[in-house]
Amino acid sequence: MLNIILLGPPGEGKGTQAKDLVQRLNFRHLSTGDILREEKEKKTDLGIQIQRYMNQGLLVPNEVVLELLRKKLESLRTDCEGFIFDGYPRNIQQAENLEALLAEMGMQIDMVIFFDVTEELSVQRLSGRRVCSKCGANFHITNMPPKQEGICDYCGGSLYQRDDDTPEVIKKRWATYMEETLPLLNYYEKKGLLYRVDATKPKEEAFRDLMNLIRNLKK
Ligand code: AP5
Repeated sequence: MLNIILLGPPGEGKGTQAKDLVQRLNFRHLSTGDILREEKEKKTDLGIQIQRYMNQGLLVPNEVVLELLRKKLESLRTDCEGFIFDGYPRNIQQAENLEALLAEMGMQIDMVIFFDVTEELSVQRLSGRRVCSKCGANFHITNMPPKQEGICDYCGGSLYQRDDDTPEVIKKRWATYMEETLPLLNYYEKKGLLYRVDATKPKEEAFRDLMNLIRNLKK
């Protein structure tokens, strides 16, 4: 099993790349953002609490995310080559929690890929992002427009803009990233697990770089 973390600021393209990776490799995609949105949609007490954090651009408490991740990991741990962790961990405590969780299951982190992008580009990408309400595919109004405005190319579902893709919340998400998540670069560099991809490149080029890194790891 190979376990890979995709790490980086909001909107640098990790969700887009993770979805493409699992089309090509027999990996499972674990996005804590998607897991939390799923819970939010259930409108349970927990879902309402989660929504408050997400809509303010803050991290959901570590123990809440860990329990949801644990359940998902157990349910997906079938016949696959490994996991792509997208958006987890986001602080040192979560990194330690993930190590412990994987160790319980006889696994470890093999590679951490940092997606480097500027704040300006991230804001441009997030403010134009549109997501399919049915299959979750990502589009962008100018960078990756759907063939028909407002309609998903893959399943015909309607496209929507996420509640946290407003200018004020994007700014707060960046601040949270700088304060809580950036220290993870140093943490994983010291462990010799950190690799970088230039995420300012067009989607296909960034994907090629990513695949090359993973192929080298598999050798
Ligand atoms: P999450 O959903 O993980 O949001 P994020 O980290 O801010 O990342 P995004 O999903 O916004 O961006 P992305 O990098 O995946 O970019 P994408 O591929 O969509 O988390 C949301 C919230 O949940 C957090 O703020 C927090 O509250 C909570 N949360 C999540 N995980 C948590 C955790 N571990 N602990 C606590 N709380 C947690 O691309 C963006 C746009 O750019 C798209 O429109 C796409 O089409 C376009 N694009 C992508 N790549 C390119 C390219 N190369 N060129 C041009 N355009 C591109």
